Amino acid sequence: PQPLVIAPSILSADFARLGEDTQAVLDAGADWVHFDVMDNHYVPNLTIGPMVCKALRDYGITAPIDVHLMVEPVDRIIPDFAEAGASVISVHPEATRHVDRTLSLIRECGCRAGLVFNPATPLDMLDWVMDKVDLILIMSVNPGFGGQKFIPAALDKLRQARQRIDASGFDIRLEIDGGVKPDNAAEIVAAGADTLVAGSAIFGAEDYAAVIRDLRSTRV
Ligand code: DX5
Ligand code: ZN
Repeated sequence: PQPLVIAPSILSADFARLGEDTQAVLDAGADWVHFDVMDNHYVPNLTIGPMVCKALRDYGITAPIDVHLMVEPVDRIIPDFAEAGASVISVHPEATRHVDRTLSLIRECGCRAGLVFNPATPLDMLDWVMDKVDLILIMSVNPGFGGQKFIPAALDKLRQARQRIDASGFDIRLEIDGGVKPDNAAEIVAAGADTLVAGSAIFGAEDYAAVIRDLRSTRV
């Protein structure tokens, strides 16, 4: 199994001191920065864009930036994020008319490509793009907000996605996003996830390092 990646969602960070707060979670042991982009159209919330991604790079953040695009249409913004320093760019199939083209575009821009599955979205289309994804992101909440409750059916979807990845032989990370906490991390990892996004669980705590340690130590 690949080493567990902890990706704090900076949606729950202090936006007024984003550089410092992002550096603080990395110093506390996080691996990636999960960067949630919402457009008040694909999802009912509005957050941050490429300028803020670039600002984090200019501030000195060197960790991989894992950009989760909840915007529609999505293609136009992909090159902007690549230039702004994104490492992974993930897209929702509902937000593009041409999933294959969008995934190819992400790689052409020099980033790793991710495909995101909402709670009610089946995994079927993976059969046709498995060679074009570097990451599969399973949503365990409906996208739009931090601090929601984990939807248990996501565990089954993780197991199905893990089977597909292992059968494919490709090097693909399996990420989970939404309601991840130290109490459910063990079953999530047991279901096949190797990359955990956590927003409120980490940024809502006094001691970031303790939560990150707890998320890792629950590995079974
Ligand atoms: C939700 C976002 C998540 C969110 C997770 O649309 O994609 O990344 O920040 O927040 P928590 O961990 O609080 O559920
Ligand atoms: Zn996210």
